Amino acid sequence: MKRLFKILTFSLLGIALLAALAASFIYVKGIPNYEYKPGPDILNLKVAPDSNRVARGAKIASLLCNECHKDSKTQRLTGEVMLDMPPEFGKVHSLNITNDSVHGIGAWTDGELYYFLRTGIRKNGSWAPPFMPKFPLMADEDLYSIIAWLRSDDPLLAASPKEYPPNKYNLFSKFLCNVVFAPPPLPESPITIPDSTDRIALGRYVADALCACYACHSADFAKMDILQPDKSLGFYGGGNPMLNLEGEVVHSANLTMDKETGIANFTSEQFLEAVKYGKNPRGGPLYYPMFPHTALTDGEVNAIWAYLQTVPTIKNAVERYKPKN
Ligand code: HEC
Ligand code: HEC
Repeated sequence: MKRLFKILTFSLLGIALLAALAASFIYVKGIPNYEYKPGPDILNLKVAPDSNRVARGAKIASLLCNECHKDSKTQRLTGEVMLDMPPEFGKVHSLNITNDSVHGIGAWTDGELYYFLRTGIRKNGSWAPPFMPKFPLMADEDLYSIIAWLRSDDPLLAASPKEYPPNKYNLFSKFLCNVVFAPPPLPESPITIPDSTDRIALGRYVADALCACYACHSADFAKMDILQPDKSLGFYGGGNPMLNLEGEVVHSANLTMDKETGIANFTSEQFLEAVKYGKNPRGGPLYYPMFPHTALTDGEVNAIWAYLQTVPTIKNAVERYKPKN
């Protein structure tokens, strides 16, 4: 018995020691690096900056980039503290993505931007943790539009030398980036934007690939599948706890067509007003981090509505946020 106890103590000590070693290893190793290996087509990518692309890129950015990268003080995309990121992940800034060639992305090539937006890997091999989204399912043409816009003379992107200290991710974030998250692979073949006559396919594209509505509207950011969104835990069933800018928890809504806990009773007009203008059909506004997606066309929102009719329903009564006063 004594012997067994000794063995147990030793093996427990061993496990504790191993865990401590693993923790300090991850602490020192930090966010892992990955090989930067774009093929020749990406290396030589030159996106022609035509005005349609710049306009489409500006629209996509208003849906996807400005929210995190816009600094209210400079009124440009010089980066901002990620206030709504839970403090257990560390203190992180989105970075300066203005056209400044030293402090922004003015010196990045089109190929570097393309590779980074798909995978999160920079030319020097450093990897942006999941707080910077990756776009593995976005159509090539939409990525080109973002790149054309990033090069444009939009005042949001006017060069600014604003600089931040290196992002400090803590042990928990480093652990997740070593064990749970990894860069998505590049698509094997070109991705095209579905034709607007195929409403369900277009709705799936806008909701899953472009706007990543499912990311917030499924159960848990850590259990989402960015390559096969419909494999995410609780796909569109809502309940994902997130923080508003005051640090209070706001759960996402159930967007499946469940009659009691989802949005089956919305009309398509109510859905459109909710998505585009942040109106809650039950009265009052929809609260942050849901934001008005004004840049989406009515056709795109109607396509999302058509697509959501095809998503399996989930019964999940979400406790909705109520402001204190
Ligand atoms: C949810 C917040 C969020 C959104 C949305 C977001 N970003 Fe970021 N972005 C970040 C964070 C945080 C970083 C810093 C990551 C790191 O520490 O490596 C970053 C880094 C970057 C970088 C690297 C900058 C550098 O100097 O290394 C680029 C380029 C970039 N983002 C572009 C974009 C574009 C373009 C979009 C829209 C298509 C976008 N981001 C959307 C949060 C965001
Ligand atoms: C950054 C996270 C986030 C993203 C991205 C997001 N939502 Fe939301 N959404 C929320 C949250 C949180 C709520 C709940 C807000 C509340 O309770 O007032 C919500 C509420 C809603 C509602 C109201 C449903 C109801 O029952 O009241 C609709 C409709 C909706 N979102 C649709 C969408 C669509 C469509 C997209 C993509 C185009 C999208 N959302 C993207 C977080 C998000």
